[in-house]
Amino acid sequence: MTFKDRVFSGIQPSGDLHLGNYLGAIKRFVPLQESHDCIYCVVDMHAITVFQDPKKLHKSTLEVAAAYLAAGIDPKKSIIFNQSQVAEHAELAWVFNCVARMGWMSRMTQFKDKAGKNAEKASLGLFAYPALMAADILLYKATHVPVGDDQKQHLELTRDIAAKFNNDFGVEFFPITEPLIAGEAARIMSLRDGGKKMSSSDPSELSRISLTDDADKIAKKIKKAKSDPEPLPSEIAGLEGRAEAKNLVGIFAALSGRSKSDILSEFGGQGFGVFKPALAELAVAKLAPMNKEMARYLDDPKQIEDILRDGAERASVIAKETMKEVRDIIGFVK
Ligand code: TRP
Repeated sequence: MTFKDRVFSGIQPSGDLHLGNYLGAIKRFVPLQESHDCIYCVVDMHAITVFQDPKKLHKSTLEVAAAYLAAGIDPKKSIIFNQSQVAEHAELAWVFNCVARMGWMSRMTQFKDKAGKNAEKASLGLFAYPALMAADILLYKATHVPVGDDQKQHLELTRDIAAKFNNDFGVEFFPITEPLIAGEAARIMSLRDGGKKMSSSDPSELSRISLTDDADKIAKKIKKAKSDPEPLPSEIAGLEGRAEAKNLVGIFAALSGRSKSDILSEFGGQGFGVFKPALAELAVAKLAPMNKEMARYLDDPKQIEDILRDGAERASVIAKETMKEVRDIIGFVK
């Protein structure tokens, strides 16, 4: 059986959207619209696996949607919606809770990282998180999912769930979804610690460039970014063991769409006193238009809500169809 090429991806509305979300995810979502049917979701139900202040959740949901729109995702061509408006996500997630095995779930490194030593106090939802993610993807029979490499394990679990469901019921119903992994190039690290991923939960604001930062803030954060006293090497190999230098060069490359070696052939031999101002200028030039566009959308929340509602209606049509068949396959009386 062949499945129609369809892309699904999601971002959690759980805090500041930052450069890592943009370069590692949103920016990559845009060109996929040329070749695939795309569904881009604001995964608010994933966000509440850890407590979210209701007002902030609402605001962040609109912000993620505004970022999708500002980056160039076309809400007519693609579907943009928030997860909680399509109840079938929760419904299929329950079915998958019954397909996935405790052993599979206990091996998820993101759960172990997020729950830490306090696993007893983590929500049941945080443990079941990957089954909901599998439901997001398989509800639309998505064939491709662009994600960062931190989500690779969840994608593998999605494939295991699809295969077990198909096998248990003797059907070829769900596709075995392919990840579109960004690879290292799109992995943006903290500006304060090159060994840690840029994250909205980092207590230091200086660790990330937020998509709502203005030009002054962007320049200041790059100026204060951790670096080292050595000049930049002229070859990539020279970045080994210099996590912060590697990250800043990586950000330059991703923002400019040039390769790291190209950047190093330009800046090799120069110190950060020269490189940082150039990076700040580039970041401001690339992010300012997006920042302005986001602000324009956020000025008119009703417009974003209308887009999300329209997206949810279109997503529902596909989701309802899938769930109807799933209920039949399982043997639920209708
Ligand atoms: N877990 C993903 C993340 O934290 C977000 C997500 C939820 C997602 N559902 C998804 C990503 C489905 C891709 C497809 O980045």
